[in-house]
Amino acid sequence: MNRVYIKTYGCQMNERDSEAVAALLRARGYRIVQDEAACDVLLLNTCSVRDAAEQKAIGKAASVAQQRKRNPRFILGILGCMAQNRGAALLDTLPDVDLIVGTQKFHQVPDYLDNLRAAQAAGAPLASSIVDIAEEAGSQNKIKDHILPQDDFGRAGTPLPAAAASGVAALPMVTAFVSIQQGCNMDCAFCIVPKTRGDERSRPMDEIVRECEELADRGVREVTLLGQIVTSYGRRDYAHTDGITPFVQLLERVNAIPGIKRIRFTSPHPRGFKEDLIQAYGRLEKLCEYVHLPLQSGSDRILKAMNRPYSRDRYRQIVDDLRRVRPDMYFSTDIIVGFPGETEEDFAQTRELFEACNYDMAYIFKYSIRTGTPAATMAAQASDEVKEARNQVLLALLAANSDRRNATLLGTTQEVLVEGPDKKGLGYMGRTRGNRIVHFAANERLIGELVPVRIERASTAVLYGQLALAGVAH
Ligand code: 5AD
Repeated sequence: MNRVYIKTYGCQMNERDSEAVAALLRARGYRIVQDEAACDVLLLNTCSVRDAAEQKAIGKAASVAQQRKRNPRFILGILGCMAQNRGAALLDTLPDVDLIVGTQKFHQVPDYLDNLRAAQAAGAPLASSIVDIAEEAGSQNKIKDHILPQDDFGRAGTPLPAAAASGVAALPMVTAFVSIQQGCNMDCAFCIVPKTRGDERSRPMDEIVRECEELADRGVREVTLLGQIVTSYGRRDYAHTDGITPFVQLLERVNAIPGIKRIRFTSPHPRGFKEDLIQAYGRLEKLCEYVHLPLQSGSDRILKAMNRPYSRDRYRQIVDDLRRVRPDMYFSTDIIVGFPGETEEDFAQTRELFEACNYDMAYIFKYSIRTGTPAATMAAQASDEVKEARNQVLLALLAANSDRRNATLLGTTQEVLVEGPDKKGLGYMGRTRGNRIVHFAANERLIGELVPVRIERASTAVLYGQLALAGVAH
């Protein structure tokens, strides 16, 4: 009766929150399972950033509630952003949900499940649901526990390779997400996140560094520092030292941990790319030459309407500055098409800047009305047809860019961090510093190692290569 399945929707922050909840539940004696059909407790960790994401989770909850109706011992919970955004109102459409827990209360999930199970054990089917979407001071410090590799829980609920899942041979954990901050104070006109995640709150730098050290001791070689606006990390808690922001101070400290070989972060804000961060790419050798730099729009008029405090020229300047420091820099971005009032001329500006930045990866979103945000009530909402057409234009450009970049990688040797078996179990997978996925033949001993791989072939999303290690059998 203690088998928990967690399904995660949305961003890496949500994945990290799910891992932390899983670790807490594990410590409380729950079993985290990968087989949804074999669980007693199903938790949906949800996303609210677009309507489609909310509808997906609502549809899932409704179908699960229907299937499990005859089982009075089953517990269904909704966690995270949609729980925070909709609260108890979710019960109007989903009366069979037992638990609704917001973004500042993830750490309470074990207690609430214990309470629900105790009530069940006492006999009657659950009469009322638990709803907790309150704010909690210091909640940003609660996302710190990590699930160990021998736990049968893969990141984002993806199955671990069979060997690890059966507990026969636990594979080491090579990459990890580390939450450094929660919330956002930016008020972008389209965005629900300030409502779902609350005010910007940073974790103490010493605690983050300690967590990274502990992860390194366990074999983690790559950390991704996470927050809604990481470039603002610690701005109210730490002073600048010689023009160095707290975020760059944190990067310096993580860079100094011997076991950590690579550092990434997401998501930054363009306005955080001052000289100190640009220069960090020249001097912090572990900082990977891959930046996710959300553009949202290439039109100054639309950026203003979005309440994004930079111009297209300033954005372009950041890209150029970073390429000057690291000519081999890889960029990804977020774009919204069909923001209210976006004309053909505005979109042409986005398209032009998109081409000029030569992105390796981009997440292109059709604008989605989020009730309660300023953009929801703006005039001149775009039609679905217009959004879809603009989406397709950028997707085609992205595919061409990605293929072009892949062509330049063919025949080169790239440093790859070996993460583990690939999903199909045919060989091994890892990533380049530029965040490209590479598949190649290797063996288990190389997991966690940085190895040279010669790139021989490419699909749009995956590179294929061979280990370029003289004398290493594989
Ligand atoms: N509609 C579409 N996309 C959105 N995003 C945020 N809010 C919306 C919305 N209302 C996108 C932004 C952000 C990413 C995480 O999601 O591009 O960077």
